[in-house]
Amino acid sequence: IRRLSTAEKAGLCNPGIMKDQPKVATMAKVKDVEDLLKEKPAVAYCRCWRSKTFPFCDGSHAKFNEASGDNTGPLVFK
Ligand code: FES
Repeated sequence: IRRLSTAEKAGLCNPGIMKDQPKVATMAKVKDVEDLLKEKPAVAYCRCWRSKTFPFCDGSHAKFNEASGDNTGPLVFK
């Protein structure tokens, strides 16, 4: 079982992505998503803030959910 970080224990939604910025806003252009979908069956965007490949999902939500009891998951385009 993964231990929760200090930021997670403090209840932060985002424990570590681009913390030097006042706000994390990611623009996903429809054209870019369409181009990615030509190469892959699906494109998944992270909504748990734990992905090492943010803004894309890398599956880290599963460990986070197991440790926290949460139920986060990606936004998937097909
Ligand atoms: Fe964040 Fe999958 S890694 S939703």
